[in-house]
Amino acid sequence: MITNPAEARTAWVAHGFDVADAAPEPMDQFAAWLAEVQAAGVFGPRAMLLATADAENRPHARVVMLAGHDRRGPAFATDQRSPKAHDLAAQPWAAAVFLWGEVERQVRFEGPVTRTSKAEADAYFTNRAVGARLATWVGPQSAVVDDRAALEAQLLRTLQEQPSPVPRPPDYVGYRLTPEVVEFWQGRSDRLHDRVRYRRAGGGWLLERLSP
Ligand SMILES: Cc1cc2nc3c(=O)[nH]c(=O)nc-3n(C[C@H](O)[C@H](O)[C@H](O)COP(=O)(O)O)c2cc1C
Repeated sequence: MITNPAEARTAWVAHGFDVADAAPEPMDQFAAWLAEVQAAGVFGPRAMLLATADAENRPHARVVMLAGHDRRGPAFATDQRSPKAHDLAAQPWAAAVFLWGEVERQVRFEGPVTRTSKAEADAYFTNRAVGARLATWVGPQSAVVDDRAALEAQLLRTLQEQPSPVPRPPDYVGYRLTPEVVEFWQGRSDRLHDRVRYRRAGGGWLLERLSP
């Protein structure tokens, strides 16, 4: 197991990534790469860029944290009153990107997005640090606020009003992207990068190498 990014980058750029190396299930391949980059100490490995589109087809992108992943796809948690949640209500489809730049890896997902169960949202919430749990009560997300003092006053009210442990606010919900397309990108020398794409086909997955 490689435990620093510089060594991982050298090894992975030299070794590359081929269709023959790829797991039959893309989420298994994702889990393997995530575990490798986490072990290698890559910065912010669970940060994913999430792109949605609004009712007028305008794209919006922002970073969210990977809250969970299994064969069903990557999941994240957010405020159901947020702009991204409104986008997903209008157009329940998203693209997500993980960039592990220190080791020249990228993973892209595209597919429909649905709500997770309440039990899963509870689990994502419980995994948050205490301060972050309290902060989820400060909202609605992306609403305009007067100043920082207003936010801090709201946090203080939450501290006084909410029992301990702090419960999940009803607006804090989970979403899962069900992958239709997943692409794994491994940087190689001379820009001759390796790209392996999974596409759903006939109940299974079609794997193809793409030109860099
Ligand atoms: C590293 C990082 C992690 C973030 N994680 C989350 C997250 O898990 N959920 C979330 O709602 N916002 C998260 N944010 C904030 C979002 O990027 C964004 O500001 C917020 O969700 C509002 O987006 P919206 O107005 O498009 O709905 C994160 C931001 C960064 C930089």
